[in-house]
Amino acid sequence: MTRRGRRRRIVAVALSVAVSLVMAGVAAAALGSGDDAVVRDEPVRVVPALALPSPRTDGETSLEQAILQRGSVREFDPTPLTLGQLGQLLWAAQGQRDQGRTAPSAGGLYPLEVYVAHEGGVYHYRSDGHEVAAVSSTDIRDDLAAAALDQRAFHTAPAVIAIAGVEERTARKYGGRAEQYVLIEVGHAAQNVLLQAAVLGVGAVPTGAFEDDTVAELFDMPDGTEPLYLIPIGRPA
Ligand SMILES: Cc1cc2nc3c(=O)[nH]c(=O)nc-3n(C[C@H](O)[C@H](O)[C@H](O)COP(=O)(O)O)c2cc1C
Repeated sequence: MTRRGRRRRIVAVALSVAVSLVMAGVAAAALGSGDDAVVRDEPVRVVPALALPSPRTDGETSLEQAILQRGSVREFDPTPLTLGQLGQLLWAAQGQRDQGRTAPSAGGLYPLEVYVAHEGGVYHYRSDGHEVAAVSSTDIRDDLAAAALDQRAFHTAPAVIAIAGVEERTARKYGGRAEQYVLIEVGHAAQNVLLQAAVLGVGAVPTGAFEDDTVAELFDMPDGTEPLYLIPIGRPA
């Protein structure tokens, strides 16, 4: 089945369950959150969304300490991250600010898309609303490890953040410079995640060695969305 065909099938499945917010409850449980994270009285949407706790903007660790503390971690404790930690990391990658997002973007075109995979499935981050939408309830981490050349970090990480790029969004304005700009931007977003992880006492490693097509399939990324960075993340072992 093609990527598009597989996506249609998943959307059909999502539609059939979206009539009930039970899915949101399942998603919240999978993320290791409490009931307070489930938005039960929201109007029904096509794709079930899960609100994330508001991000902290007043941490006590200085930027200098975060820079010093950051260092690649490749062995993790299997304990899942909390919903608050995951939300904070996703916000660091692409959260909303009063104007724009937490990472700079050429022309303010925001070509990056952020996903997270963990034992409860695959989720897509929506900057607007600071929420995640369920992509699938499949635990893809073993397949992800295989697609990432069996690197050890993928075998123990409770979560993997994927940052993908939609070059077309930037190319509309910047033409042939778009590829360069999108690659620069993913570095900005990933560094935010790594520094935020350091502040949270969470370990992470940025990885670029993986099979692009397989990773795109596993996250069910739309055509034109290319995975650029995978960040296994969790408490250090
Ligand atoms: C573009 C890029 C790709 C990387 N890919 C991988 C990778 O696939 N696997 C891995 O274990 N580390 C990867 N790293 C992490 C580097 O190995 C690591 O940053 C380097 O050893 C320096 O160590 P430090 O991060 O602890 O400062 C990558 C880093 C960058 C910047």
